[in-house]
Amino acid sequence: MTGTRPRIVVSRWIPDDAVALLREAGDVWLPQPDRALPAAELHEVVAGADAAVVTLSEHAGAAFADAAGPQLKVVANVAVGYDNIDVPALAERGITVTNTPGVLTDATADIAFGLLLSVTRRLGEGERLLRSRTPWSFHLGFMLGSGVQGKTLGIVGLGQIGRAMATRARAFGMSIVYTGRRRAPAEVEADLDATYLPQDELLATADVVSLHCPLTSETRHLIDAEALAAMKPTAFLVNTTRGPVVDEAALAEALREGTIAGAGLDVFEHEPDVHPGLLDLDNVAMAPHLGSATVETRTAMATLAARNVLAVLAGETPLTEVTP
Ligand code: DGY
Repeated sequence: MTGTRPRIVVSRWIPDDAVALLREAGDVWLPQPDRALPAAELHEVVAGADAAVVTLSEHAGAAFADAAGPQLKVVANVAVGYDNIDVPALAERGITVTNTPGVLTDATADIAFGLLLSVTRRLGEGERLLRSRTPWSFHLGFMLGSGVQGKTLGIVGLGQIGRAMATRARAFGMSIVYTGRRRAPAEVEADLDATYLPQDELLATADVVSLHCPLTSETRHLIDAEALAAMKPTAFLVNTTRGPVVDEAALAEALREGTIAGAGLDVFEHEPDVHPGLLDLDNVAMAPHLGSATVETRTAMATLAARNVLAVLAGETPLTEVTP
């Protein structure tokens, strides 16, 4: 960066506002036209970069950093989850890692609650019925779902998105229990009227279990066959965090066997693939990882990532740094 403008590599399309911000600080490289770069190609283009902006589809670890070179100062992830980044490997090389918490909280909670309603009220199933031109007529026993008022929502991970989900659920008349690595502050519990339960009790109690914990080595397959068997046969699972938090094969089996009543899924274990066992089931509502997919939210995420890059390149503290 001596005397020349910094090189900023952006792995995939980001909104123009964020590109404009990055251009204030350096020369920006983006794949044009936009496409997913295979790792080897990404490693070629990142060579010589002072900053990199990546999305959750790209892995940034030791090989990425070494391909970039010792001048790489910051990797800005355009996502709140950073399981695609090997934070210790980058920290070891003196590279700052940032993510985008806060700005996608409401959008993600909206999708989580939307999936909850979609699966409990059989909206996807109803739409498929209509689109398949299957004859139907209104009658009192037709396509009955489960109401949510008076039911219990079990939140796994009462962070920002978990709390936003709880707020939505309370507005729909649900009561809230939660579990996680640690208890929320007393004022948060009081505000949401949320009761802490150990995970096994939450699974046995909740009418809907909604996952909001990050993907870590501890939460991979947190919801496995045993956890699914611990849920009520009338209960639903909602996952908007990361696919591998759920053992997808075990989930498909549980849904087929009636171990649980249904699932609402925005994320999948091996994206973009979906376990074939899920695709044929009517008691699953699905979306292709749309949690933060609004124009406003994606703009806010990419802009925050760009501001983090600008801060690090200016020698300042970034707004939202991930600490190893
Ligand atoms: C995230 O930010 O982690 C979402 O999964 C993508 O927006």
